[in-house]
Amino acid sequence: MVYITRKASFSASHRLFNPAWSDAKNQEVFGKCNNPRGHGHNYDVEVTVAGVPEASTGMVMDLKRLADVIEQEVIERVDHKHLNEDVDFMRGLIPTAENIAMQFWKILEPRIVGGKLVSIKLYESANNFVEYRGE
Ligand code: NI
Repeated sequence: MVYITRKASFSASHRLFNPAWSDAKNQEVFGKCNNPRGHGHNYDVEVTVAGVPEASTGMVMDLKRLADVIEQEVIERVDHKHLNEDVDFMRGLIPTAENIAMQFWKILEPRIVGGKLVSIKLYESANNFVEYRGE
């Protein structure tokens, strides 16, 4: 089994808040991330696919093809967007890195050919990232 990874980047804004809670509770839980007009991040995402390289190509999956799928299916839908307002697949969800990574998985998993999606890492900053493995 070989694990191949494609990295991509996007910039987006969001606000973390739970509409079911009071302003005070939101402030207590989300702090600065609850700023009413939002704030932005430069996100990095790493998508890892595992498989056995095909004999004729030597590849698990063409990384160019993986790059295109990531770009078309997720990056174009979130880049320079407000995740709470502009992105259909985030509607009704608190746009944490956890929820973004899980939605990316749902979108990308059926589009992976040749290997199996095994990990999505989403970096919200240099020091903060989440990893979703589909379970
Ligand atoms: Ni944030």
